[in-house]
Amino acid sequence: LEQVGEALLANLAPDEFDRAHWRIFRELISYETADAKSPEQWSGLKERLAGFEDRPRAIYLATAPGLFGSIAQGFSENGLITERARIVLEKPVGHDAASAEAINDQVGRCFEENQIFRIDHYLGKETVQNLLALRFGNSLFEPIWGRGVVDHVQITVGEDLGVGDRVAFYNNTGALRDMVQNHMMQLVCLMAMEPPSSLDQDSIRDEKLKVLRALKPIGEREVKSHTVRGRYTAGAIAGKAVPGYGEELEADPGDVEDHGAETYVAIKLENDNWRWSGVPIYLRTGKRLKKKHSEIIVQFQEVPHSIFSDLAGALEPNRLSIRLQPDEGVELSFMAKEPGPGGFSLKPVALDLSFEEAFGIHYPDAYERLLVEVLRGNTALFMRRDEVEAAWQWVDGIIAGWEAGGQKTENYVAGTWGPTGASVLLDRDGHSWLPED
Ligand code: BG6
Repeated sequence: LEQVGEALLANLAPDEFDRAHWRIFRELISYETADAKSPEQWSGLKERLAGFEDRPRAIYLATAPGLFGSIAQGFSENGLITERARIVLEKPVGHDAASAEAINDQVGRCFEENQIFRIDHYLGKETVQNLLALRFGNSLFEPIWGRGVVDHVQITVGEDLGVGDRVAFYNNTGALRDMVQNHMMQLVCLMAMEPPSSLDQDSIRDEKLKVLRALKPIGEREVKSHTVRGRYTAGAIAGKAVPGYGEELEADPGDVEDHGAETYVAIKLENDNWRWSGVPIYLRTGKRLKKKHSEIIVQFQEVPHSIFSDLAGALEPNRLSIRLQPDEGVELSFMAKEPGPGGFSLKPVALDLSFEEAFGIHYPDAYERLLVEVLRGNTALFMRRDEVEAAWQWVDGIIAGWEAGGQKTENYVAGTWGPTGASVLLDRDGHSWLPED
């Protein structure tokens, strides 16, 4: 209880922490230890839960995924799965498609699919949900969303943080499994999916699944031309020196062997369907980049014929940027005439909407929103079994390709935007990553 109180004090803004409420709330918390692997010894937990059968029961598991199955079985064997019970599985669900399937089978033997909430906190971010509002709450964008109008899409999820004290976990995971299989795949799905017929749980998830199934596989033959792996070396971020991944690994008390995990990955992805055929979607994510910055940029094609070709300054293609964090908002850039007499001079300008300014509120944390959905029993913002498995299958192909092709991991200096190879990946197609600063 002390720890909960301290964590609340440390993480809440001073005006959000109310001592009187905390005193009432703490009386509602109880703590019970139970061995995940010995459910026959769960009598304490059973007693603790007796009498609360008619209330929603959220079982939230942030354990190693290998324990999900036995914990689910423990709840089942002890008769603790009530009608309103739900189980929440923290990512990652497994390490590859096979282990994800095994976990889904084990948990699925105890809980119905509509009681299983596979969490991806990106789906709880307001701006990620705003993507649905933007695309399907406005008639403006849908007709121009795809082949023929869109030139390419860039999705960046950049972090300034390093692996920190999770180096042992990261050593076995890497950026592809930690960030792409889940968060970035979900962003791709919401950006690329067809309009669902309604907001209900399965309509959205059915459409997302179609996107995952339409991703062109990237295997041994394609990995070199379509992917880049990187790892940070010592550098500086915002003027402060930071160690390299190698030093952090060496300093880890667990004395672990280097498994070659990447801290950065960039991918050129193609969606094999009517809408997106021939439109590349570039993804990049990494730790210890220049700053924390996540954004989806839809770049439209250049005008087919410029009547301004004699003027100084090139025409820039239109761009729609959806800023996910920080400073959540949407920006549409277009060319405008600079005011003044004496002919035309064009300049890119932007329509910029900051959600915080527009709505004047501070957004709730993604987990706050998702856990409320768990209590409400709404799985729409959680990953369905088939989605998780399809995303793993695609990612497994890349990992197998890396292994078979001996894909190299390029170093990048902490505090930069990543390895040179990532710039080359776009340069080959005549593009460059945005933003450059
Ligand atoms: C987690 C990853 O799922 O997402 C972390 O395991 C990562 O490595 C984090 O730092 C990023 O989340 P956010 O909300 O800060 O973008």
